[in-house]
Amino acid sequence: MNFNTDILTLFDKGWALVTAGDIEDFNTMTISWGGMGTLWNKPVCTVYVKPVRYTHEFMEANDYFTVSFFEEKYREALGILGSKSGRDCGKVEESKLTPVRIGENIVGFAQAFRTLVCRKIYRQDLDPAHMPEAVRERYYESEAPHTMYVGEIIGIG
Ligand SMILES: Cc1cc2nc3c(=O)[nH]c(=O)nc-3n(C[C@H](O)[C@H](O)[C@H](O)COP(=O)(O)O)c2cc1C
Repeated sequence: MNFNTDILTLFDKGWALVTAGDIEDFNTMTISWGGMGTLWNKPVCTVYVKPVRYTHEFMEANDYFTVSFFEEKYREALGILGSKSGRDCGKVEESKLTPVRIGENIVGFAQAFRTLVCRKIYRQDLDPAHMPEAVRERYYESEAPHTMYVGEIIGIG
């Protein structure tokens, strides 16, 4: 497995999709917070999903998720997937991206230039008590803090 990238801009500037569920019943959303590295001697990808997101239900219910990266030309699609909820509409059809079944309960997208297949090995709700006050006030005044999901990267496509 190999993935050479500028990790500090990959999520922040490039955005990504985090996807969980089965091809018959999955959800996806745009993320720009995330990271990659090592935990417990495993290669990992970490994402942060707010409990209010529909995707959160799928992250909780499934053992796997994918993180997919796209070229700039798909920015509009990622804008749709990051502003509408799968709870309310068929946003994947609207985005015109093509979901693909990678395995059992593992879904990615045909247009992604890189897809990380992750096995969920840790989850934790971020604790407001351990955040800088400015962060708490800026991001969590009205909504519960993000859940952090650490996934072991078991495949890179
Ligand atoms: C550029 C961008 C980055 C985002 N990053 C995150 C993120 O890291 N974590 C998060 O919980 N929501 C993030 N969001 C918001 C979700 O993508 C958005 O609320 C989405 O509509 C949720 O869809 P869902 O309800 O179908 O899960 C981001 C949105 C955009 C446009």
